Amino acid sequence: MANKKELILIKPDGVRRGLIGEVVRRLEMKGFKIVKLKMLQLTRECAEKLYDVHRGKSFYEELVRFMSSGPIVAILVEGDESVEVVRTMIGPTDGRKAPPGTIRGDYSNSVLENIVHAADSEERALYEASLVFDSECDYSPSQ
Ligand code: RTP
Ligand code: MG
Repeated sequence: MANKKELILIKPDGVRRGLIGEVVRRLEMKGFKIVKLKMLQLTRECAEKLYDVHRGKSFYEELVRFMSSGPIVAILVEGDESVEVVRTMIGPTDGRKAPPGTIRGDYSNSVLENIVHAADSEERALYEASLVFDSECDYSPSQ
């Protein structure tokens, strides 16, 4: 058994649509241990760092604006092969094509607004967790 950490973000559309409980429920029912959980609104700078690998792509600006547009929920989980298992649970990027039974397939009909983000390696999960659990990333205009 390879116990690994994985970082999931419930994106602004997921929070707006009341899907926090549903995403957390699925992770818990699958057997993951929730290690950290936090609601925050990303600063633009942190959204840029989070998606640094996509800098220069056609959707980058829209993605950074979307990710910093409202509150998100960051969840760090631990479990066997968590990166692969969580990415299977969330489904492919495009919610219009993601199969039913996956989070994106069940709740998204968009390639941009696809409810959740999941890191693509444990190393990346730990880097992203260091960003989102750091108070400097948290811009909370309504507080
Ligand atoms: P994520 O990083 O959010 O978990 O999603 P992913 O690995 O499945 O997809 P990725 O290729 O890393 O893309 C990151 C996010 O950018 C938005 N996107 N928009 N308009 C487009 O063609 C497009 N392509 C990607 C999505 O919000 C995607 O989750
Ligand atoms: Mg990605």
